[in-house]
Amino acid sequence: MKLTSVRGMRDFLPEDLAKRRLVEARVRELFELYNYAEIETPVLEHFDLFAKKSGEEITQRMYSFTDLSGRKLVLRPEGTAPVARLMATTLRTSPKPIRLGYIWSFFRYDEPQKGRYRQFYQAGFELFGSKRPEADAEIISVSNQLMKLLGFRGYEFRVNSVAVLREVLKEHNVSEGVQNQTLGLIDKRRYEEVVKTLRASKVSQDCIETMKQLFGIKGTDVPTTISKIKRTVEDYGDAREGLEDLETIVGLLDNPPRILIDAGFARGLEYYTGLIFEVYLPGLPIALIGGGRYDNLVETFGGEPTPAVGCAPGIDRLVLAMEEQEVATDEQRPAVVYVVPVGEMRTKAMEISAKLRQEKVRVELEVSGRGLKQCLSYARAREYEYVVIVGPEEAKKGMVILRDMKANVQTELPVERLPSQIKR
Ligand code: HAM
Repeated sequence: MKLTSVRGMRDFLPEDLAKRRLVEARVRELFELYNYAEIETPVLEHFDLFAKKSGEEITQRMYSFTDLSGRKLVLRPEGTAPVARLMATTLRTSPKPIRLGYIWSFFRYDEPQKGRYRQFYQAGFELFGSKRPEADAEIISVSNQLMKLLGFRGYEFRVNSVAVLREVLKEHNVSEGVQNQTLGLIDKRRYEEVVKTLRASKVSQDCIETMKQLFGIKGTDVPTTISKIKRTVEDYGDAREGLEDLETIVGLLDNPPRILIDAGFARGLEYYTGLIFEVYLPGLPIALIGGGRYDNLVETFGGEPTPAVGCAPGIDRLVLAMEEQEVATDEQRPAVVYVVPVGEMRTKAMEISAKLRQEKVRVELEVSGRGLKQCLSYARAREYEYVVIVGPEEAKKGMVILRDMKANVQTELPVERLPSQIKR
């Protein structure tokens, strides 16, 4: 029997989980501040939900199986498709715009490496029902706020519009299949293979040249970079429109983060129709947040035409980045008070513990029947701040002994004074 966890899946010990929870707490603060209602969907979905639009990159790496009734199911590899499924069904008639949030685990058969796991955690912000650039700007703003709240510095948003890439290909009659293949290769920066693929599909040299030019354009000076892209796609009406949207979105940002416009950037998911972005830290070549606009997904699932935009911060990667940038990952938590009965003081100790908890003190009650000496060495090993010793003599007088483990001093005091004495 193998007793290790499954490859690419991790056990979270208390200190690991505390770091994850810290990021999750910041995400939930933003759910509140931006009014995203948190939802939960099943971890298992029908295979077809993702097969339709999530893209080869993900669908080939799904954990899939057939259940006892012969249904083809998967462990969800991402969150946008399940939320769009809800929009196409249960939430079909709810007033729009609607903002939904989630923090779930996901599963992909990725090659395990730094920041890449087979079970991982993502938060999500999904905004349905608005085509307007204000919605895209809100998603960028929420991502920027999260990075700020977590204390990161020097991060960069890599931004593009898939509309530009797709429109150029469409104008040259490149089939949707080849478009998807091309964008998948661009996502991996395999530009030479893009050219080969387009040539093999007998796409015009004009198209290939335009694509090659786009791959070379990027810069943090947003207006200059956008002008360069504009000149390149001058003859492509719809591509220009995608670009103008991008310009408006960036222009709407209040207190914008550092933005790198990169015309040779794509994302592996096939449902994107406009803005796409990822957030990076210098020296850490893994995306911390990914997102974009997906105007057709709800309709693809049989719902009403519902424009949408969203993003998914990768919780595990944000934790990793916090460790790398030495951003504080430990939150001040209330001190632990270890309540130890001496002799027959079990009931009294339980009563005192209950009172302390009512006062919001974090209490661990001694339950192993060990002697005081052993209890004190246990408290030392666990680095607990306080021990409350409930002895028979003191109890008769309504008193207890409070031992400050750091200062190594103990005082006798009335039970009622305990909460105020214990620094929270
Ligand atoms: P994604 O880029 O595939 O987008 O994933 C979002 C984030 O999840 C990534 O930026 C990364 O931080 C994290 N992530 C992805 N794969 C792994 C992995 N194997 N191990 C650890 N972390 C990982 C989506 O999934 C879209 N649903 C995002 C979205 C929401 N677009 C619109 N709304």
